[in-house]
Amino acid sequence: MADARKLFIKTYGCQMNVYDSERMAEALGASGYTLTDQAEDADMILLNTCHIREKAAEKVYSELGRFKPLKAANPDLKIGVAGCVAQAEGAEIMRRQPLVDLVVGPQTYHRLPAMEKAMRDGARPVDTDFPEEDKFAHLPKPPRTGRGPTAFLTVQEGCDKFCAFCVVPYTRGAEVSRPVERILTEARDLVERGVREITLLGQNVNAYHGAGDGGTWSLARLIRALARVDGLERIRFTTSHPNDMDDDLIAAHGDEPKLMPYLHLPVQSGSDRILKAMNRKHTAQSYLRVIERLRDARPDLLLSGDFIVGFPGETDQDFEDTMALVRQVGYGQAYSFKYSARPGTPAAERAGVPDDVATDRLHRLQTLLTEQQRAAQNSMVGRDVHVLFEKPGRAAGQMTGKSEYLHAVHVADPRVEKGQIARVRIVESNTNSLAGILA
Ligand code: 5AD
Ligand code: SF4
Repeated sequence: MADARKLFIKTYGCQMNVYDSERMAEALGASGYTLTDQAEDADMILLNTCHIREKAAEKVYSELGRFKPLKAANPDLKIGVAGCVAQAEGAEIMRRQPLVDLVVGPQTYHRLPAMEKAMRDGARPVDTDFPEEDKFAHLPKPPRTGRGPTAFLTVQEGCDKFCAFCVVPYTRGAEVSRPVERILTEARDLVERGVREITLLGQNVNAYHGAGDGGTWSLARLIRALARVDGLERIRFTTSHPNDMDDDLIAAHGDEPKLMPYLHLPVQSGSDRILKAMNRKHTAQSYLRVIERLRDARPDLLLSGDFIVGFPGETDQDFEDTMALVRQVGYGQAYSFKYSARPGTPAAERAGVPDDVATDRLHRLQTLLTEQQRAAQNSMVGRDVHVLFEKPGRAAGQMTGKSEYLHAVHVADPRVEKGQIARVRIVESNTNSLAGILA
């Protein structure tokens, strides 16, 4: 290639941003860009940003500040902000940080090649449309070169739930499901490139309702079709809303062997009063009932969740209700956050709880969740699991991969190869991983 320009992308936030960053790299690959992992070498720097909590957005501005010397050294360097901060703040980003040349939201990055060209001609494009066209249909086909054995695949985007704290319906837009055939084609393509595990992504993935053969397909129907793709061995999906866990999807956890026994099902709070204020449209009881039905279908299901503490109006009793729900469910893994007011969301208008109270609650909740996580991980010792090996581990001769429960597992055995799924006996539980031997 005559003009091999270098692109550096830094990704913040969720797995969908990881997927989007790959697609952006492919889109700019068609304009002659190859990826570099050194910002210093780059002709273009893209920050693919997250707006979910205040800290996530602030990180972007401090990172941009760090690029000042690079821009001074190379005036041709182009700096772009993509993702949800771009969507939420638009041209304001350029006012606050004048070294930014490009602002592109999550729904328009298929237009990056044209924007890149415009930048070369001196423009500073800002594109935060929610276009009619489907960006995925306008993106180039990914290169067939090697990649790891696991991949993300976006099947649904956006959200119509409007939880009172959440920016997603504003930054990612209304709920849209990709058509079944496009997803199946992309999945087959990934499998041909060596992928054995696909994680289906969507902000509200289990609300999937894509156009397919004979009408609208549910997520369960899509999973069952994907399970028939030869060579695809494992399917996961994230993130789900409790109200969209329909009967067939619950049943699939019991009868679809390729669907892995790990589920991320956020509840946010254990207090019905707070759930109502959050506009979650479910109760603690209805959530627990869904969990019970899932566990009836798949008794060894490992559950993960998201929690917010310090939501406006949360009392000590509300928080105790959350602790009680956590004790009742027993999570294998979870994320917990202090409430962060997001401009433009309904909850941002309400008075929050004092910061020291919220901090204290977060510590208590995280202590409990960490205990549960450790117990779940320790209970794997002595058991046989199946591990999909992804890459060499830190120690010499070690390979690391994930069990069906998404635990990281290390095995030191020369017979183990990348991309292989092997039966492993767990012998040790360490801080963030398990160690095993081939069974
Ligand atoms: N403050 C704190 N946490 C939030 N989340 C979403 N919005 C906020 C907010 N304003 C958390 C929720 C969600 C996860 C992705 O991030 O728990 O499930
Ligand atoms: Fe945000 Fe999830 Fe609620 Fe949608 S369902 S508004 S993405 S927290």
